[in-house]
Amino acid sequence: MNDDVDRLLARLTLEQKASLLSGLDSWRTTPVPDADVPSVWLSDGPHGVRREVAGRDSVPSTCFPTESALAATWDRDLLERVGAALGAEARALGVGVLLGPGVNIKRTPLCGRNFEYLSEDPVLTGELAAAYVTGVQSRGVGTSLKHFAANNQEWGRHWYSSDVDERTLREIYLAAFERVVRRARPWTVMCSYNRLNGVHASQHGWLLDDLLRGEWGYDGLVVSDWGAVHDRVAALAAGLDLEMPGCDGVTDAEVVAAVRDGRVSEEVLDRSVRRVLELVARAVPAPMTRLIRWGVDPETPGLDGRRVAGGPEGAAGAGSAVGDQPADGEPADGPGVLPEDMVAAHHALAAEAAQAAITLLRNDGVLPLTAPRRLAVVGRLAVAPRIQGAGSALVNPAQTPVSVLDALRSSFDVTYAEGCAMTAEAPDAAREAEALAAVRAADVALVLVGQVDGTESEGYDRAHLDLPAAQEKLLDAAVASGTPVVAIVNGGSAVRLGGWRDRAAAVVHCPFLGQAGGEALARVLAGDVDPSGRLAETWPGRLEDTPAFVTYPGDRGHARYGEGVFVGYRWYDELGLAVGYPFGHGLSYTRFEYRDAAAGVVDAEAGVVEVACEVVNVGERPGVEVVQVYVAPPRRRGGVPVLDGEPGEAVPVTPVRRPVRELRDFARVSLAPGGTARVVVTLEPRAFAYWDVAGGLWRRDAGTYVVELGSSSRDLRAAVEVTLPASPADRPEPTDVELHDAVVARSAVVS
Ligand code: BGC
Repeated sequence: MNDDVDRLLARLTLEQKASLLSGLDSWRTTPVPDADVPSVWLSDGPHGVRREVAGRDSVPSTCFPTESALAATWDRDLLERVGAALGAEARALGVGVLLGPGVNIKRTPLCGRNFEYLSEDPVLTGELAAAYVTGVQSRGVGTSLKHFAANNQEWGRHWYSSDVDERTLREIYLAAFERVVRRARPWTVMCSYNRLNGVHASQHGWLLDDLLRGEWGYDGLVVSDWGAVHDRVAALAAGLDLEMPGCDGVTDAEVVAAVRDGRVSEEVLDRSVRRVLELVARAVPAPMTRLIRWGVDPETPGLDGRRVAGGPEGAAGAGSAVGDQPADGEPADGPGVLPEDMVAAHHALAAEAAQAAITLLRNDGVLPLTAPRRLAVVGRLAVAPRIQGAGSALVNPAQTPVSVLDALRSSFDVTYAEGCAMTAEAPDAAREAEALAAVRAADVALVLVGQVDGTESEGYDRAHLDLPAAQEKLLDAAVASGTPVVAIVNGGSAVRLGGWRDRAAAVVHCPFLGQAGGEALARVLAGDVDPSGRLAETWPGRLEDTPAFVTYPGDRGHARYGEGVFVGYRWYDELGLAVGYPFGHGLSYTRFEYRDAAAGVVDAEAGVVEVACEVVNVGERPGVEVVQVYVAPPRRRGGVPVLDGEPGEAVPVTPVRRPVRELRDFARVSLAPGGTARVVVTLEPRAFAYWDVAGGLWRRDAGTYVVELGSSSRDLRAAVEVTLPASPADRPEPTDVELHDAVVARSAVVS
């Protein structure tokens, strides 16, 4: 294939090369008909294929649970299967690259796009995203790992600078990107809109070239977020290959001029053109004719299309002369709709994923429901659930979602009442009275609450973590009625729950479950399946307790990540704060015991450790346990280390302040009653290391580490010690003077 690309590169004119570096329109790369270079279609992502046809309409496709819900499954295998299904749908719709997954860390629960991201933890994010990418790409469809990097709020996203120190970047905000790049080799990486330490991500040479390509060995293409390029020539020089969407030739001309007058070398240009050609060679060609089938002419203004030389039936539809197109590549004038058997199979997979994402936060034994029972079902969300968030990720579901109300009706005697309007601040007396009458007459009341559409969306952040006041009041009244209340909280991210929380018989988190969520929720409530979701983000007690409370959204164009590496549970644990529900929390209908935990050093020098334990289902029902493996660094037990010694001579206790514990691995096990599983995980060197800014390397201190195994970050069931030497001392720990100089020098590089 390289030969083909080389030959092609030699044939292309400067203008043709420049044209390949920007889109044809909103979704396609620019074809070069004279050289038989077709176009590739890029579509959002991440939880369904949003293959746009005109304006914002898109072809129906399976709406899977959103990333935040998929993360609650802690299930790599499931994520890979969902990825493979997404890849198959993309391919069937002529989409060459699916724009996802989003792997930005949830720095603040307010970020409007948190439903599109996985977790507050980089290991969980990276592991699940790598599985997703592997799945999608197994179908010959590319992914776009986004948004690179430090795009952790929507407010001011186009111009704000995320000001992050290097250690925090490496350990928290870049770690998931690195893991996915190294492990799953995504075909593309999408740069973010924001600036990083003052420089636009699209023009950030350290980020795109030195780090991504140089250190991590990335050999794929970097695409801009849509409209993230400010200075095309600077972006090209920094390593940004493809600008999206189309620029109507404007920035192509800038690139041509820059090469002609020597501001950019032809070598730099060719480097990016080569990556575009390599992408085109791997991807299914964009179907130019399919638009006609959907009744849309390619020149429709809504598609902001530039006319392709040779017309819509031009070379783009005819396959490629570049490299190997996948043999089973669909013809360019394919059906444009998903085959029925695929729709049915993927709906079943979406239901499986939704079931695994539902998270039981509290249960006094009222769940599972046993039939026959009279149920009161209260809340508009029982009829019209929120299945996904808003923005570019919005999927047009291939099957009409079944509401949980309808799904429950087949097994229970159900009375429904709306209770209050979704957005209302004050209760409506008549509606509330009707709902409370239904609650009192029932054996169990299910009250569905949640935020309203528009609060969780790309482009906006939330202003607070609270539920609408009328819903809170309704729940207060319902729990006071004497009937056991199951509160079901529907939404894409953490919310603050009111005083009713501890008086509800059960609390269930029902994230954005996609098109099959209604059936899934009914099955979990009825006990047909165990609730196996675990929170992938902390539910804080109050907004004021959250790590970024003081520095979010920032001011005068700068969001300063002052909490450093203390993000999510790392923050709450460091400060010893009470939380609503901790990271990793989620109950089962059965009970598990952890036995015989042990750790063995596999390679002391490298820092490889094997950890094992037995997990036993000691309850009466089948269930799923997610074993979480945390590592606590040396010298962190027994208090907060700051300075040690006499006043005037006191020195820091540790070279760097490290979190109390950090998630380093996890395993999901499914067990029949009485069943036992032996869980074995291998902790890699990074599990014990921190980023040493001065040395520019991952460093491990000598000492005794504690490996903790548990059911959540605050429900630790076993702990084992492991003693390791310092990482190879090829670069000894620097003196303070060396440290000062090195840190100053490196800060200049990173920004
Ligand atoms: C979003 C990306 C998305 C792109 C294309 C941008 O506004 O930030 O996530 O992939 O639009 O829709």
